[in-house]
Amino acid sequence: MTKKILLSVFILPAVMAFAQQYGGMWIPTELNEKEMKDLGMKISAKDIFNTQKPSIKDAVVQFNGGCTAEIISPKGLLLTNHHCGYGQIQAHSTVQNDLLSNGFWAKNPDGELPNPGVKVDFIVDIKEVTDFILEGTDNLVEPELAKKINKNIEVYKNSQKIESYQSIIVKSMYYGNKFYAFTTETYKDIRLVGAPPQSIGKFGSDTDNWVWPRHTGDFSMFRIYAGKDNKPAEYSKDNIPYVPKHYLPVSIKDKAENDFTFVFGFPGKTTEYLPAVAVEKIMKDIDPARIAVREVALKTLDEKMRTDSETRIKYASKYASVANYWKKWIGEVEGLKKSNAVEKKVMYEGSLVAKNHEIKTTLDQLNKLYNDQAPYALNNAYYTEVVKNAETLKLAGDYYDYIASVESGKMEEKELTKLKSKVTSFYKDYSAELDAKVTAKLLALYVNKTAPQFLPAGFSKYKDENQNIPMIEEMSKNSIVTGRSQVNGAALTGDIEKAFSNQDKLIKTLKKDPVYQLYASMKETYMKTADPQFTSLQGKIDDLQKKFMAQQMATDKDRKFFPDANSTLRVTYGKVKGSTPRDAVSYGYQTHLAGVMEKYIPGDYEFDVPKKLIDLYNKKDYGNYKDKTGDVPVGFTATNHTTGGNSGSPALDANGNLVGLNFDRQWEGTMSDINYDPRFSRNIMVDTKYILFIIEKFADSKWLIDEMKVVK
Ligand code: ARG
Ligand code: ASP
Repeated sequence: MTKKILLSVFILPAVMAFAQQYGGMWIPTELNEKEMKDLGMKISAKDIFNTQKPSIKDAVVQFNGGCTAEIISPKGLLLTNHHCGYGQIQAHSTVQNDLLSNGFWAKNPDGELPNPGVKVDFIVDIKEVTDFILEGTDNLVEPELAKKINKNIEVYKNSQKIESYQSIIVKSMYYGNKFYAFTTETYKDIRLVGAPPQSIGKFGSDTDNWVWPRHTGDFSMFRIYAGKDNKPAEYSKDNIPYVPKHYLPVSIKDKAENDFTFVFGFPGKTTEYLPAVAVEKIMKDIDPARIAVREVALKTLDEKMRTDSETRIKYASKYASVANYWKKWIGEVEGLKKSNAVEKKVMYEGSLVAKNHEIKTTLDQLNKLYNDQAPYALNNAYYTEVVKNAETLKLAGDYYDYIASVESGKMEEKELTKLKSKVTSFYKDYSAELDAKVTAKLLALYVNKTAPQFLPAGFSKYKDENQNIPMIEEMSKNSIVTGRSQVNGAALTGDIEKAFSNQDKLIKTLKKDPVYQLYASMKETYMKTADPQFTSLQGKIDDLQKKFMAQQMATDKDRKFFPDANSTLRVTYGKVKGSTPRDAVSYGYQTHLAGVMEKYIPGDYEFDVPKKLIDLYNKKDYGNYKDKTGDVPVGFTATNHTTGGNSGSPALDANGNLVGLNFDRQWEGTMSDINYDPRFSRNIMVDTKYILFIIEKFADSKWLIDEMKVVK
C-alpha cells in the first residue's frame, strides 16, 4: 500500500511532464490513448475518430481551406472565429449596412446569408499508404524520385472508388518518409448566421494580437446547407440545413486549472525536427530580416492611417495581416532565445550521435549546406519580403509575369481574365502616393542590407530613403503600373479593358515604364545571383532533412514522434493552465468580462466596447453564464500545441464537450512552431460561456442556443 502510494506520487508528475515535452499534433487514427486517459480523458480514441460509426471528427471541418470550424447543433450550425469569417462578414457589409461594425444576427434560418465560393471539408477517412506510394522508388534520386511518387499517387487515387462530392488527397508526412491518404467531402452552401460587432469579435485588435491576457470574443457562426438528400449541393434556396452525423454538445461548466482539454483541427505548418543550425539561422538571420522589412512598411502605413480615415479603411485588413506575422516573428525569436532552442537541439543531436554515429555525417553535411546557403537565404528573405510589401513592386511583378507568359506563348484567355480581376481588386485598396513612400524606404533598406554581389548595377544610388522618396514619387507619377499614367487611352486602375485593348502597345509601354524597369532589374539580378544557388542548396537540404528525420525516428526509441503540421486533421491535448513567462510575472488561465471593462477606451478603434455590453456588465445581467467568481469568463489558456490553421478549432473537455474556441497563442510561446516549450507555450481560446452569453444576452438570439445541446 505505502509502496503503491509512493509510486503514484513519483510517477504521475513524470508522466505529466512527458506528455507535453515536445508538444504534439497527432494524426487522429494514431492517438496516444493511454496518455490522454492518464491526463484525464474519459472518452476513448474511437469516440474521437471512427469510420464505422459517428464520432467527434464528423463535427470538425476545414473552413474554406484555411481555418477550422465545428458543428454545434443537429441542424448544421457551425462555429468558427470572427477572424476566419471576416472576409464573408466584410463581403456583406456596405457603408449603410456595416456588419463589421454593427454585427449581424439572422432572426431565423430565412435570414441567413449565402456566401458563394465558401466551402467546408469533412474528413471521411484516413489511411496510411506509404508502401503503395513508395513502391519502386528504392533506387531513385531526385528528380526521378518525385516523378515516380507523383505517378504512384495518381495510380492510388484512380484505384479508389469515391462519390462525386468526395476527393482523395495524399500527403507526405515526416519529410517524405511516410504518406497518408485523406478522403474528404465538400459542402458548398455555407450561410452566415451571426457575428458580433468588431468591438467584441476583434476587441484589442493588433495591440492585443498574440497577447495574453486576452479579452476578444473572436467567434462567428455559419450554417451548412445540403441538398434534400443531405448530400453536398451547389447553393439553392431550396437546400436544407445539413443534418450532421455528430455535433458537439456545448459545456458551460466552470473550468479549473489542470482540466484535461484537446483541440481538434487543421494546423497549417510547423518545423519541429530541424537541426540546430537551421534554428539558429531562423533566429539570427531570417526572422530578423522579415521583421525589419515589415517594421518599415507598417510604420509608414500607420502614420498615414492614423491621420486619414479613408486610408485607414483601405488598408485595415492588409495592415492586420502584415502586422500579424511581423508580431509573431518577434515573439518567435524571443521565445527561441528564452527556451534555449539552439542549445537544446545541439544537446539532443549529441545524444543521437552517441547512439548512432552515422547521424554525425548527416549533421555535418546539413551544417555545411546551411552555412553555404546562408548568404543566399538571407537575400531570399529580404527580396521576397521587399517585393511583397512594396506594393508598387508587387504590381510590377504581376505585369512582369504577364509579359513573360505572353512572350513564351503560354498566356491563355482564362489566365488573362484572372490577372485583370486580381489587379483590379488590388487597386481598390491601393494608394499609389502612400506606397511610393513605402517603396522608397524599403528600397533603401534592401540596398543597405544586401551584399553588393546581389544588387543590380548602379543600385547604390538608392541607399538613402530620404533621397529615394522624391525619386520614387517621380517614377510612380510617370508609371502606368501605379495607374497614375495612361496606356491605350486609359489607366490600369480605371478602365482596365481599354488599357489592355492593344496588348502590344501595353507591353511596349510596360517595358519602358520606370517602376517596371526598377522591378525588372531587381528580379533579374535576384534570379541570376541568388535564386539558383538558394534553390539547389534547398533541394539538397530537403533530401538530408528526410534522412535526418528517419534517423531521429530510428534512433530515439523513447520518443513518440508526430509529423509536422501540414494542414491535415490533427489532435493535440493538454491541460488548462496559466504560465510564468518572465521573472515575477505570472499569468492566470482565465480572463473575465471585468477585464474587458478594464481595457475599455471609449471611441478607440481597438478598445471600444459596445454600449449594450456595458449595460449588461453594469446590471450584471449574466444569466447562466457567470462562473464561481460571479463574472462571465471570456478567454482561457491551455498547454495544447497549436498553430496557424487551428483558428476556429474546437477545444473539448474530457467528455468530448465543447469548452472553448481556439483562436491564438500567447506571444512568449509562439516559437512552438519550431520548438514547443511546455513552460511558455499556451493556446488561447474563447470560453464557451462568453460565446453563449453574447448570443443570448447581447444578440438576443436565444433561438440559436435552443438548437444546441447545452451541458450545465
Ligand atoms: N494571431 C492570430 C492568428 O494568427 C489572430 C489573427 C487575427 N487577428 C489580428 N488582429 N490580425 O492568426
Ligand atoms: N491565429 C492563428 C490562426 O488563425 C492560430 C495560431 O497561430 O495560434 O490559425
